[in-house]
Amino acid sequence: MKSALYSHKDFLFNTTETLIAGDRIFVGNQQDEFALGGLLNKGDRILLLGLGYGGSLRSLLIGNQNVEITAIDYNLNSLNACKLLMDDIFPTLNSKIRYIHGNAAHFSDLIDGKFDVICIDLYNSTGYPEFVFNHAYWEMVFESLHDTGILLINSWGLPTHLSPLKGKTVHIRLLQSLSNTFKSVYALPYRRCTTFILSKKLVKPKINNFKITNNVCELDGIILNLFPLRWSHADLITIPSIDCSLVSGEQNKIYSELELRWEVFLKNLNSALKECGYKKIENNELKQFVYDPIRATEVTELLLLQSKPEAFFIPVAIGTYAFYDSAGLEWYINWILTRGEKLIRLNEKWFINIILWQCLALMTNPFTKCSNRINDIDFWLRNKLLNEDKLKNTRHLTRIK
Ligand SMILES: C[S@@+](CC[C@H](N)C(=O)[O-])C[C@H]1O[C@@H](n2cnc3c(N)ncnc32)[C@H](O)[C@@H]1O
Repeated sequence: MKSALYSHKDFLFNTTETLIAGDRIFVGNQQDEFALGGLLNKGDRILLLGLGYGGSLRSLLIGNQNVEITAIDYNLNSLNACKLLMDDIFPTLNSKIRYIHGNAAHFSDLIDGKFDVICIDLYNSTGYPEFVFNHAYWEMVFESLHDTGILLINSWGLPTHLSPLKGKTVHIRLLQSLSNTFKSVYALPYRRCTTFILSKKLVKPKINNFKITNNVCELDGIILNLFPLRWSHADLITIPSIDCSLVSGEQNKIYSELELRWEVFLKNLNSALKECGYKKIENNELKQFVYDPIRATEVTELLLLQSKPEAFFIPVAIGTYAFYDSAGLEWYINWILTRGEKLIRLNEKWFINIILWQCLALMTNPFTKCSNRINDIDFWLRNKLLNEDKLKNTRHLTRIK
């Protein structure tokens, strides 16, 4: 393939931390969101705390390849494995990456100078490291960021349909820890993760003009071109002052909260099913519901009309099942193509950032066989959405033929 960003080897690597495909950069995972770093700031110094096996590296390079990434992880084995993988699969990119073995709790002792973009992706199989809930930590991050810098945080926890930014949740505790230091926070939902985007300024950071070159494959080019649209719908978050000090960042506690909220979710979903004339379902029937386009679309459209977060269950489930059992999920793409115009009118922000974005995740996910449908979605978007005046800022972007 065309550039250093791709591998001609048939490479696919998947662990709980990392998903890497040789033939594409965007893979339908939260790590894709880090592309916003290069789009919101054209600077050349990026700091990544939480390298894993390097799934985020190429997302950070796609908007701007003239950068140097300093990547820190305390797991020496995965750090070394990442270095070797990159050397073998994307050899010319390795010169842009500085690998540091160390504890992100004290990252300022391991680096020199300030950064244009800092990405934080630090939860692991036990949950969040406790230091991310300390105000002092965010002051250290603030000090390491240039005045025009961008901070991106991957906050894992409750899925979008369980309202992760409402009530006492780990996401809110994290936001409260940094709210003394960073004044404005934007959020983008992504299945079980929410990406927080912060800067030192009070005004919303702008996406720089960019031009997609033939360094980028068509699939990635189409997705990259849609980031300005996604960003234009990013929410400014008001951080609630409820006391979240006792909310734990341990993974098992996050799962307990998820179970509690799941009961309410199922009750509300069942009310919507009943309103549409369908039978009540149990947890073990949810998968059948996801693979049943008639019930799934009817109920989701009703929930959208009622502005209920349970409407996000189907997009979240589609993006999740894409990894395990993608045959039978194609209906979701057809639903967008046929009903998208109506859905946008119900709630444009939800449509773009949740419903459409998980459709793109389904198509880019290397385990599905849907990537060939990207041109249908691209064509549809160009005709139905991107020609509207208010969205014309995305039009001047050139995409590869
Ligand atoms: C979710 S994974 C990162 C995934 C990665 N960004 C990717 O896309 O491939 C979290 C990583 O943070 C690392 N980590 C957790 N706590 C850490 C700490 N205190 N210092 C350094 N690394 C840490 C873990 O070893 C793990 O590799």
